[in-house]
Amino acid sequence: MDHQRPKRILLIVFSGTGNTLLTAEMLRDHFGEKGAAADILQIPPENKAVQLDSYDIIGLGYPVYAFNVPLIFLRFVEGLDLRNRETFIFKTSGEPTTFNRGSSSSLLKLLKRQNCSILGDYHFLMPYNIIFRFPDGLVKQMYLYARRYTALAAVNILRGVPSFISFNLLHRIFSFVFRIQRFGAALNGRFYGIRKKQCTLCLLCLHRCPSKNISLKNNTLKFGFNCQMCMRCSFFCPADAVTIGFLNLWRVNGAFPFEKLAADKKVKDNFISEKTRGFYRIFMPYFRELDRLL
Ligand SMILES: Cc1cc2nc3c(=O)[nH]c(=O)nc-3n(C[C@H](O)[C@H](O)[C@H](O)COP(=O)(O)O)c2cc1C
Repeated sequence: MDHQRPKRILLIVFSGTGNTLLTAEMLRDHFGEKGAAADILQIPPENKAVQLDSYDIIGLGYPVYAFNVPLIFLRFVEGLDLRNRETFIFKTSGEPTTFNRGSSSSLLKLLKRQNCSILGDYHFLMPYNIIFRFPDGLVKQMYLYARRYTALAAVNILRGVPSFISFNLLHRIFSFVFRIQRFGAALNGRFYGIRKKQCTLCLLCLHRCPSKNISLKNNTLKFGFNCQMCMRCSFFCPADAVTIGFLNLWRVNGAFPFEKLAADKKVKDNFISEKTRGFYRIFMPYFRELDRLL
C-alpha cells in the first residue's frame, strides 16, 4: 500500500431517520480535517456493486434497534468481503443504558471471523426517533457532544488508538433475548396505516422506504411484510399521517433541527448537568464520561 497518499475511509451506514447518518457526516468531515478522505455509503446502496478495494479503513455505522444491529444492516455487512481489513464500528442510540453495548456483538463476531483488525467501537447518544421526543436542550447537548466525540474518534482511528466499549455476558444475553426484529418488525409493519384525512399522497414515505415495503394501490398506501422498523415513513411524514401499528403511542414525528438548535442561544447547552434530578439524570454518566475524554 502507498503510505504517501492520504488514508481513504469508507463509512458504510444504515440510518432510518438521519441520526447515524449525521454522525457519519461528522466523522467524514473530521477525517477530512486530519488529511484523510472519507466517503459515505448508505444502506441500501443505489448501486449493488460495492467497491471496497480503494479504501484503507471501513467504518460500519448503525442505529441500535431493540439492543441489536438493524437486520437490514447486518445482512448487508454479512455479504461483504472484509477479510483482513481495518474496520471500526459506530452506533447511535437514544438511551444511555449499557444494554445497548451488546448490540455490537454480532458485528464484532462477524469481523473477527473475517480476520479484520478492529480499530474501535464508538457509541454516540442521539435523540430517540421513537417512544418520545427529547426536549430541545437535550437534542442540542447530544449534537454538540457528538460533534466533539466524533472528532476524537476520527483522530483515534487514524492513529490506530483503539477505543472499545466493554460489554459482558449479561449484555449479550439481553441483545439475544431482544432479537425481536426478525418477526416483530414484519408483523408490526403490517399494521402500519395511513390517516386518510391527513395524507396528501405526496408519496415521500413510499419513495424513502429502505425496503420498498410501501406500495400505492387505488390511491391507497399499503404496507407489506418487509418493514425494517426504521420509522422513516412516519418520522418524516410532513402531514404526520403514518401510524406505526402497535407502537403508535411511541410515534415521533418531525426531523430534529440540530443546526438550528446549535445556533440558538436561547436553548441551553447544558440541559443535563450534575444538578439534574429526575429521569433525565440517567444521561449524566454519558456526558460525564465524555467530559473526561474530550
Ligand atoms: C425500532 C427501534 C428500536 C430502537 N431501539 C433502541 C434501543 O434498544 N436502545 C436505544 O437506546 N435506542 C433505541 N432506538 C432509538 C434509536 O436507536 C436512536 O434514535 C437512533 O439514533 C436512530 O438513528 P437513525 O436516525 O440513524 O435511524 C430504537 C429506535 C427504533 C426505531
